[in-house]
Amino acid sequence: MLKLPGLIDPHVHVREPGQTHKEDWDTATQAALAGGVTLILAMPNTQPPIFDAQTLELALQAAQAKARCDYAQFLGAGPQNATTAAALARRAAGLKMYLDSTFGELRLDRMDLWQPHFEHYPKPYPIVVHAESRSMAAAILFSALYDRPVHIAHVSREEEILLIKAAKQRGLKVTCEVCPHHLFLSAEDIPIFAGNHPGRGEVRPRLATRRDVHALWQHLDVVDCFATDHAPHTLAEKDSPSPPPGFPGLETLLPLLLTAVSEGRLTLHDLIQKCVTNPRRIFSLPEQPETWIEVDEQVVYEIRARNHFSRCNWTPFEGWKVKGRVRRVVLRGRLAFDDGQILVEPGYGQNVRH
Ligand code: DOR
Ligand code: ZN
Repeated sequence: MLKLPGLIDPHVHVREPGQTHKEDWDTATQAALAGGVTLILAMPNTQPPIFDAQTLELALQAAQAKARCDYAQFLGAGPQNATTAAALARRAAGLKMYLDSTFGELRLDRMDLWQPHFEHYPKPYPIVVHAESRSMAAAILFSALYDRPVHIAHVSREEEILLIKAAKQRGLKVTCEVCPHHLFLSAEDIPIFAGNHPGRGEVRPRLATRRDVHALWQHLDVVDCFATDHAPHTLAEKDSPSPPPGFPGLETLLPLLLTAVSEGRLTLHDLIQKCVTNPRRIFSLPEQPETWIEVDEQVVYEIRARNHFSRCNWTPFEGWKVKGRVRRVVLRGRLAFDDGQILVEPGYGQNVRH
């Protein structure tokens, strides 16, 4: 049995408030624990979006009542809320800026709407951007102009990882994350896992080319964090005429990464850096005392959504053979997960920005 620190996932869509038929604070944090994740950072594109004191309170009340692992909640950047968000920074995981099209209402199309946020949001707290391709280049320029840290979510393409590499070489305060689905799947795999339901292949950023996937593996040294972008939608929604983008990911993150370790594509040291050490530093998160996970590195099995805690009930990795399973999770001194059973009650999770 291998003992590792509890993992941190800096990119989770919990769906509460507003879309609890997809997921809620209870099921998302059960999925986290089952995946070996003891701390999640929750995204703000809920209904309503989390963008001021009142909506932050709404999310935090649900979390306080229902979360089973630790957490913090992001604020979303809107066209009007720069000073409001800045005033709430100490209570939030960070500020999320949607600069490209995605799921939900939060989107800042014009660059003059970005400026007040870069001016006001306190520098020690990170700004996270959903910015693809040339928008990413613009976000990196903003990081340079305002001399402040910017964390780039879900990097998926060769041109992007090369740009971030160049920005880091210049000493810019840029960090980034990559999602397992962009490391283990390319656009060519969509027909295989989606069958005749093409909506199941929809995700933003889209699955990229094999060449892009290869480039991400080649430049793992540029990647600061692994993040799931856990984005549950029901299969009925995914198979509808207007399928929303997004894949669940909390329960497949560690099995996929451990399989890569067993194949020599990743070191355990890198896994811990990118799933614990770096996210903790980038987001200024506290250490979780008496917290660890125990993993059976040798067991080989197939991923099955029916064994998952996420409410969405599907995974693009259905049937994948993986090596490595989470056996136990100890969170702040309590056995929270043991051989498929969740042992802590809703509300055990703590807000790390309290
Ligand atoms: O695929 C995605 N789904 N990308 C996003 O940026 C948002 C997410 C969601 O909330 O469903
Ligand atoms: Zn996301």
